[in-house]
Amino acid sequence: MKVTSVVFAGAAAQPGAYPKLPHPEIAFAGRSNVGKSSLINRLLDRQIARTSATPGRTRQLNFFVVNQNLTFVDLPGYGYAQVSKQERGQWQHLVEDYLIHSENLRGVIIIVDIRRGPEDEELALCEFFVYHQLPFLIVATKCDKLKRGQLQQQHKALTAQLGDYPLLLFSAHDGSGKAELWQAVLAFASDEERG
Ligand code: GTP
Ligand code: MG
Repeated sequence: MKVTSVVFAGAAAQPGAYPKLPHPEIAFAGRSNVGKSSLINRLLDRQIARTSATPGRTRQLNFFVVNQNLTFVDLPGYGYAQVSKQERGQWQHLVEDYLIHSENLRGVIIIVDIRRGPEDEELALCEFFVYHQLPFLIVATKCDKLKRGQLQQQHKALTAQLGDYPLLLFSAHDGSGKAELWQAVLAFASDEERG
């Protein structure tokens, strides 16, 4: 996939305050510090989503229009221990509101750390998407952090754990899985509108 243009098209910190964009949307979800912004940057071949070593930096939904025909939505991370319960509730409310109401949303990429795999939050998200009939893909990132043998072992364990849920391995560091992830993103984007 050749990315010729990426434009930051706005952010939303409040439910309902989403930029009105005409393109199919793909959202990226994952716990704080899992590597969402790095994954988006790798897909887009540029440093556009802000990354940081401090967890919990992305506290709003950020919208990026790609090649003038597709929107990427960087969702705020969840599960960061050092925020108040109230703040956590606000994030969840915002993200759920967006996921349920966005008319252009065609699919969600759920990002997990290959070393941890999906935990309760991610499995709950999967159930939420099954319930709302929203296509999703689980992407296990930071694969470069594991040695080959460990990676194979972990891949097997995650496949067994996830059953029917689709899984893809990725690394923002070395770009592995990038072509496959683009393929999945474009397949979501070309799907019918939500019913
Ligand atoms: P928040 O927006 O703060 O919730 O974080 P995020 O999920 O957007 O994570 P971000 O992309 O900022 O990455 C967090 C840290 O993980 C950074 O130090 C990245 O350099 C590192 N990182 C992200 N992806 C990879 C990867 O594939 N491999 C390795 N080795 N490090 C990664
Ligand atoms: Mg981020």
